[in-house]
Amino acid sequence: MLSEEEIHDIEEILGQYPDKRAACIEALKTVQRHRSWVSDENMADLCELLDMTADELDDVATFYNLIFRKPVGKHIIYLCDSVTCHIMKYQVILSYLYDKLGIRFGETTQDERFTLLPIACLGACDHAPVIMIDNDLHIDMDLDQLDGILAKYI
Ligand code: FES
Repeated sequence: MLSEEEIHDIEEILGQYPDKRAACIEALKTVQRHRSWVSDENMADLCELLDMTADELDDVATFYNLIFRKPVGKHIIYLCDSVTCHIMKYQVILSYLYDKLGIRFGETTQDERFTLLPIACLGACDHAPVIMIDNDLHIDMDLDQLDGILAKYI
């Protein structure tokens, strides 16, 4: 069940859109901001608020890959897997993260600290390879700095 605070935040968003359905991504992001992911129960509650069917809302949540439909770690590591990063040591960074964290793409570390996900171009191709952790962009990545960067995310 959505909290009063979540419902309040979503109703404020709904007031900014002529059609409730147009607010669905923002509503999904609001729930995720409160809970870090969006459960089936949350989806059902959102469908009522947005006048959408479960299939309609699920289509949006599935298409928009920054909405998490299963629990994630405290921090999300996004590794850019687009062309320029691929050419510039993407595989080296990926292999290191796999070994260091003991997880693969889509998985979460046992201590629930990190979830590792691929992401399309982050718009910093001239500084490839690039990772983003939560909302922080890290450019010109190399293995010498990766441990130090990860250590900042406790
Ligand atoms: Fe990775 Fe553009 S290809 S930032």
